[in-house]
Amino acid sequence: MGFEKKILCIGAGYVGGPTMAVIAAKSPQVKVTVVDINEEKIKAWQTDQLPIYEPDLLAVVQKARGKNLFFSTEIEKNINDADIIFVSVNTPTKTFGEGAGKASDLQYIESTARSIIAASNSNKIVVEKSTLPVKTASALEKILNNNDKGLKFEVLSNPEFLAEGSAIRNLEFPDRVLIGSRETESGINARQQLVDIYLNWVPREKIIESNVWSSELSKLTANAFLAQKISSINSISALCEKTGADVGEISKAIGADNRIGNKFLNASIGFGGSCFKKDILNLVYICESLGLIEVAAYWEGVIKINEYQESRFVKRMLASMFNTLAGKKIALFGFAFKANTGDTRETPAYYIARQLLVERANLSITDPKAIPNAKIDLMDFVDNIKFTEDPYEAAKEADAIAVMTEWDLYKTLDYQKLFDSMRKPAFLFDGRNILDHNELMNIGFDVHAIGKSFD
Ligand code: NAD
Ligand code: UDX
Repeated sequence: MGFEKKILCIGAGYVGGPTMAVIAAKSPQVKVTVVDINEEKIKAWQTDQLPIYEPDLLAVVQKARGKNLFFSTEIEKNINDADIIFVSVNTPTKTFGEGAGKASDLQYIESTARSIIAASNSNKIVVEKSTLPVKTASALEKILNNNDKGLKFEVLSNPEFLAEGSAIRNLEFPDRVLIGSRETESGINARQQLVDIYLNWVPREKIIESNVWSSELSKLTANAFLAQKISSINSISALCEKTGADVGEISKAIGADNRIGNKFLNASIGFGGSCFKKDILNLVYICESLGLIEVAAYWEGVIKINEYQESRFVKRMLASMFNTLAGKKIALFGFAFKANTGDTRETPAYYIARQLLVERANLSITDPKAIPNAKIDLMDFVDNIKFTEDPYEAAKEADAIAVMTEWDLYKTLDYQKLFDSMRKPAFLFDGRNILDHNELMNIGFDVHAIGKSFD
């Protein structure tokens, strides 16, 4: 069958895989190929044991795989074949040299651009899907268009706003799709080609067009605003614990104001995930580089509050449990950075686990999807950690349960049974405020929650 267009995505991770699966499923006239340097990942995408857990992802992949969705390690051949190339490689925080700990490490982006130019024999549109510092498109254009083959590349920015755990819903029914380009004739023509692909399932009014720099910077700004909302409510949770106010009641009261909105106001042990911290650090670095010191300090505060929230939680556990955790068994309920994912990147549970180990606690970690990643993250500390998918097993003879992830499963457990199997006094620290605290206190637990005090 002849396809109208050939799309290639370089990078088959949490973004590349689901994004391309939805484009393929919604656009049967387009051939979509996803490549990666990681052979194991590509092999997994070709089976029903996908490399990531994401609700409904398998069904979407199965719908298109082998028809117009293909996974491959043949990068060069597929580059040459493609009309549109999405770049969806990782852009972690730089760990060395200038900007270490803040700036974005752009080595994977640059090497991808160099592979594109080396393998191309025709003009192409290159789409930034990865989250990138503002002005990256200019660097990509320089690398790509500085060629002796007479080829012309248009660089577009099309940031991805999916959240893990709800990726398929976010992709099928996006709040918006943002496409930025150069405002030249060829830039606008390239932008239109991408608009046409999204029009296969996204209503026209949800597709926002802008210049390429606005698009790049909108992505960093969106993540900074979302994370800021969490840090704001988390900062208030500390005040609640000192005053008798209840942070849940405050979220409800302020969230009823349309201008504030009721989403992202769940006080917690802190935000995790691969994006928020990395993207805010990148924003801070960009502002510092441009001499905008006050702006940088403002956004850095969001990360500082997040770190404060994590460390406050451990201190509270320690203080409640008679200032010693040495030799005590603590069951961590959840290790993923949020529910409905097995991803543990930047999970607050990791930081909390490490601090509890410093206090010489023995940990028992349970999670429905994240145990394989948790084992890798904590492989240097296995002597003091047990892993189990069974929460009842995790809590058996424990001194405390600490809820790290808001899995629905934890709301439905038999807490009387858990209590009966634990050492007394039995402590329960609800780091996500998902449990019925009154019921737990009636059972006999010594309960502590975020932004609430029960004294
Ligand atoms: P990931 O680490 O899951 O996937 C990136 C993939 O790129 C890896 O499989 C890696 O092997 C591959 N890769 C790296 N260099 C390559 C090369 N030269 N050629 C071929 N493949 C290469 O990362 P991710 O979570 O999918 O994130 C990708 C980008 O999307 C990042 O910039 C991230 O900030 C952004 N983003 C992520 C999310 C999210 O929820 N994870 C959401 C929105 C945006
Ligand atoms: C985020 C953005 O939401 C998404 O648009 C972007 O594309 C990638 O980064 P993600 O990190 O997958 O998505 O999940 P998100 O739902 O934003 O949660 C991030 C963290 O904040 C999680 O640890 C979550 O538990 C925490 N969180 C979220 C809270 O603590 N309180 C809240 O009210 C909401």
